Amino acid sequence: MAPRKPKVIVTRKLPDAVETRMRELFDAELNLDDTPMGPEALAAALKRADVLAPTITDRLDADLIAQAGPQLKLIANFGVGVDHIDVAAAHERGIFVTNTPGVLTEDTADLTMGLILASARRLVEGAGMIQAGEFHGWTPTWMLGRRLRGKRLGIIGMGRIGQALARRAAAFGLAIHYHNRKPVSPLIAEELEATYWESLDQMLARMDFVSVNCPHTPGTYHLLSARRLKLLQPHAFIVNTARGEIIDEAALAGLLERGAIAGAGLDVFEHEPAVNPKLLKLRNVVLLPHMSSATIETRLDMGEKVIINIRTWMDGHKPPDRVIPDLL
Ligand code: DGY
Repeated sequence: MAPRKPKVIVTRKLPDAVETRMRELFDAELNLDDTPMGPEALAAALKRADVLAPTITDRLDADLIAQAGPQLKLIANFGVGVDHIDVAAAHERGIFVTNTPGVLTEDTADLTMGLILASARRLVEGAGMIQAGEFHGWTPTWMLGRRLRGKRLGIIGMGRIGQALARRAAAFGLAIHYHNRKPVSPLIAEELEATYWESLDQMLARMDFVSVNCPHTPGTYHLLSARRLKLLQPHAFIVNTARGEIIDEAALAGLLERGAIAGAGLDVFEHEPAVNPKLLKLRNVVLLPHMSSATIETRLDMGEKVIINIRTWMDGHKPPDRVIPDLL
């Protein structure tokens, strides 16, 4: 007799190819109409599933995890960020948590570079002018932006995505600076010609562009506080493709409104999907709907990672992409 397939409850619609493979391998319950599951539906799923495959919009706090049935052994997240899961609470109950690192890196770095370019060269504003019929011909002084080459980019968080961004930014002639818990290896620092700043305050005060690329943890919540944002130079641009909660969004909106910094490119928001109404009225911002990993290739690779994590656990091994609470 074939061994029992584990019950895998998938909380959101995933790419068809991923869902099909899940149906082949697991006793998979899919969410074909993609209705987000509220706390009650999530609690019910935690009571029945051997594996929950949630994604970054599902809040799995300690109260909810406490309601999981004894059969639940793995939370295999579709996404790299795990700030929506109380990983420590899951671990205390002997539940593995896995994520999908690595496969989002290049696309996220591409989009971050895109936001740097779009903010400095006013791409969205320019496209809007065309659509609004406001292009009346080239002039020497119209739609001027700022040059990238020769400027300084300060990267907050020099993990995989920070490094992939640094490689792209160096090709655009930006000098790479970074703040991180610890310096990168000498080999990488040399390759990227990167300057390490132990003091985030000191780095912020000297950069032309700042990019947020660190995870959201209790330690990075409002890392860019109102006080720190005020350290930015008036011609500086700030870009965030990590998590909205890392920046005090109200303080940032205030600075942008007053023209105290030059502009911002934001793919993530503090109270997502809500966007601070002040930001929506500004011209010096480029706002995107959390789409840095939104390519067909990445979303398929993320699904593949989820499947590998579940399969490895099924086969009695430790899943490869375990998130360890002490390392967060
Ligand atoms: C993630 O996986 O955490 C990303 O934010 C999705 O784009």
